[in-house]
Amino acid sequence: MKILVLHGPNLNLLGKREPEIYGRDTLEDINRGLSELAGALQVETLFYQSNHEGELIDRIHQAPAEGVVGMLINPGGYTHTSNALRDAITGVDIPTIEVHLSNVHARESFRHHSYIAPVAIGQICGFGPFGYQLALRGLVAKLKS
Ligand code: DQA
Repeated sequence: MKILVLHGPNLNLLGKREPEIYGRDTLEDINRGLSELAGALQVETLFYQSNHEGELIDRIHQAPAEGVVGMLINPGGYTHTSNALRDAITGVDIPTIEVHLSNVHARESFRHHSYIAPVAIGQICGFGPFGYQLALRGLVAKLKS
């Protein structure tokens, strides 16, 4: 089972970026934790980060040909702006979970709306890096059920 993990803009700065909100773990730390969990769950994880909307969309478009059966995405700021990213997810029809490190609903009002949430299986936010682990467990359980 191949799971594509997508990280949107500015998430390459994790560890240095607003640590009081996003914590001290780097993106590499998060990906390493996911790879370990993927091994335990007997699934394969592929990782991709981009600061560019079109590159994220292109990566999603490649997923069906690679046999990807599920996606985790933290769309970063594109969560609140990108109908194009949402259309890419519906376009490939691959079950997807939206993840945020912070509790976006407890922050500025512009972060309360997500273009992605209505086309995702679910949304996990507010648990920091552990949210990715919850999301992978939830996705795999859903795919196996
Ligand atoms: C974020 C929340 C977004 O509002 C923000 O633009 C990010 C990170 C999170 O993981 O909490 O870049 O997606």
